Amino acid sequence: MTILKGKRILMGVTGSIAAYKAADLASQLAQAGAILDVVLTASALKFVTALTFQSLTGRRAYTDADLWGTEAHVLHVELARKAELLVIAPCTANTIAILAHGEADSLLAVTALSAKCPLLIAPAMESNMYAHPATQENLAKLAGRGAYITGPAEGHLASGKSGQGRMLETLELFGHIRLMLGRNGLLADKKVVITAGGTHEPLDPVRELTNRSSGKQGYALAQAAIDAGAQVSLITSVERTPPVGARIVTVRTAQEMLEAVLAEVAGADALIMVAAVADFRPKDIPDRKMKKKDGIPQVKLEYAPDILEAVANLKSGKKRPKVVVGFAAESHDLLENAALKLQSKALDMIVANDISAEDAGFSVDTNRVILLHANGESEALSLLSKFEVAEKIVNRVASLLE
Ligand code: CTP
Repeated sequence: MTILKGKRILMGVTGSIAAYKAADLASQLAQAGAILDVVLTASALKFVTALTFQSLTGRRAYTDADLWGTEAHVLHVELARKAELLVIAPCTANTIAILAHGEADSLLAVTALSAKCPLLIAPAMESNMYAHPATQENLAKLAGRGAYITGPAEGHLASGKSGQGRMLETLELFGHIRLMLGRNGLLADKKVVITAGGTHEPLDPVRELTNRSSGKQGYALAQAAIDAGAQVSLITSVERTPPVGARIVTVRTAQEMLEAVLAEVAGADALIMVAAVADFRPKDIPDRKMKKKDGIPQVKLEYAPDILEAVANLKSGKKRPKVVVGFAAESHDLLENAALKLQSKALDMIVANDISAEDAGFSVDTNRVILLHANGESEALSLLSKFEVAEKIVNRVASLLE
C-alpha cells in the first residue's frame, strides 16, 4: 500500500496497559513502510520498553532520558518538524490533560507542543476516568483545536469491569491513520460510490439465486479511494471488514442495490460498479418453502434491473456522476464484450477481467485486468494484487475527474 510508504509518523506511547497493543500498531505501520519515531513517557516504560519499539521499527525509540541528553535542545524540535502525523496511542487521561493545558514536562509533551502536523489521539483508561467531566472537557478542548480523537471502545477493562475505555484495536487505528494521511490525496473533496459483492435473489423463503463474488475487489477499491482522500459510500452485499471512513450501505437484491445506488449517486463525483449484479431473478416468489415432494419446480425468471443503464438514463449534470466505471467479468471474447458494454452502458471506463484465469477474478487476491477508456485507449495491467489494481483504477478516476 502506497499511502504509508515513506510517511513520517511520530508515535507517542503513554502509561496504559494498552501500550502492548501500541507495539503491534508500530509493527504494522513499520511493515507498511512508514518511518516511525516513537517517544515513550516515563509511565509507558512501566509497561513496555524502548527496546520493544526499537526492535519493531528498526529505529531508535526515545524516552525522557533523551530530553536531558546533549542533543536535547534540538531533539523535540527535529522530531516535531519531520512528522507528518502525530499519533498518541494509547493516550492516558494524564497525557490528555497535559496536552489540553499545553504543559511541557516530558519529551512527548514538548514534542507535541512543537509539532504542527495533525494529531491523532487514541484514549485508553478506566471508564469513570473517561466519563469524568475533567477528561471530557480536556478532550473537547483538544477536538476544538483540531485533534482527531478516536475511541475509546466499550469492552473489558484492566479493572476487570466492562465499560468505555478500551483503546481501539490495531486494525481500526491503522484505518484511522490511513484516513488522516489520505485527506489531501488525489480525490480530496470528491464523493465516490462503489458497489461490491454479488446480489441475492430469493427463490422462496430459504433459497436464493446469487452471483459468485467475494467483494474483495470492491472493498480494495473503497480503501484505495479513501487513501486518496475521497468520501466513500460502499454499497455492499457481503460481510467483510469495511475500510475505516467508508459509509456502508448493506443490500441484498439487485432492486435494493439499484435504489441504494440512485440515492447515493446524488451529488457524487464518481460511481464504480464492481458488484456482480443479477441479470435475472425469479418472477414469482412463493411465501412458503418449495417442498421436494411437490416435484422439480419450474422457476420463471424475469430481468433484474440494470443499474448502470438506470444511471446512464439520469439527466447529465443533475444526478449522474461525472465519471462512471463498470466492470466486465467475461469467460470469453473479453475485449469485444467489454467494449460493447463500455458503449451500451455509457461508461467512461470499463475494467475487463478474464475470469477463466485461475489467478484473476473471483475469490483470489490477485487480478489481471485491461482498462478500456471511452476515448478508445486501452491499458493492459500485469498480474497485480487486487489492492494494486484498485490504486490504478483510483488514479485513472482522479485523472478523469480533473
Ligand atoms: N451491471 C449492472 N446491473 C446489472 C448487471 C450488471 O449495473 N443488472 C453492471 C455490473 O456491475 C458491471 C457491468 O454492469 O459493472 C457489467 O456487468 P456484466 O454482468 O459483465 O454485464 P451484463 O450487462 O450483465 O451482461 P452479461 O451478463 O450478459 O455479460
